[in-house]
Amino acid sequence: MSLEEFSKPLSSIYSNSEIEFLYRYLNKELNDIDWIEITNRLLKHEPLDYIVGHTYFYKHKILVNNNVLIPRPETEELIENIFNIYKDKHIFPNKIIEIGTGSGCISIVLKSLFPDAQIIAVDVSKEALEVAKQNATLNNYIIDFIELDFLYSKLWDGLDHDFDLIVSNPPYIPIAEKSTMLKNVLDFEPHVALFVEDTSPLLFYDKIFEFAKSHLTKNGHIFCETSENIQLLNHDFFNIKSLKDWSGNSRFIHATFI
Ligand SMILES: C[S@@+](CC[C@H](N)C(=O)[O-])C[C@H]1O[C@@H](n2cnc3c(N)ncnc32)[C@H](O)[C@@H]1O
Repeated sequence: MSLEEFSKPLSSIYSNSEIEFLYRYLNKELNDIDWIEITNRLLKHEPLDYIVGHTYFYKHKILVNNNVLIPRPETEELIENIFNIYKDKHIFPNKIIEIGTGSGCISIVLKSLFPDAQIIAVDVSKEALEVAKQNATLNNYIIDFIELDFLYSKLWDGLDHDFDLIVSNPPYIPIAEKSTMLKNVLDFEPHVALFVEDTSPLLFYDKIFEFAKSHLTKNGHIFCETSENIQLLNHDFFNIKSLKDWSGNSRFIHATFI
């Protein structure tokens, strides 16, 4: 199909430059293209990465479907922040846990940066873990994936105790914000990856700090992605710093034991 033919139906919702990008990207990433099917999916606002079936994250190819959140560029910055802390100190984590691994993108990149570390990646979603396992295989890394509802602290007994690094990009969007969100996110990305009850936006962070008290080594680090709107409460025993993303928004937290 020519660019001109592809543009016609899409021009009602996409700009010319977007259509040109879509056309070039689809041709680059896919061999057999069913243009009619793809056009229909794009007209329904389905994200391009789900249509293509993969994305790229910190130089790794990551398979995605609508059981996993599409990895975001700012999450690459979370990893940069983690790497810088260790690189500057010339020591590296031995044991890492990721809470809410989704596609496995964070754990996979951490394994590439810290090849000797044992990495445990948990998620409540069996379907997401299937994708994460495929991604670990695709990228040739060994990661221990565990299906677990992290909010049930009784289940933590089954996990190791001496993590040097706890990482998480947990769900943090209050349900009330649904009305302000774009259709491509709201209609296609898994809600379990996105939302928390309006009454407890800090739920996952509170649980992570509770977990850290008994499962993080004394010199260990916690890194989380957060919303720029969340003002984190203080947690006893931890020194918590907020870190900004490239656009200057408070986007990450880094915590250590006091
Ligand atoms: C914001 S997504 C992050 C996915 C991936 N780590 C990333 O950064 O692209 C949050 C993930 O947390 C998982 N999750 C939600 N509730 C959970 C729970 N109670 N226990 C464990 N994982 C949970 C979701 O399934 C989802 O994969």
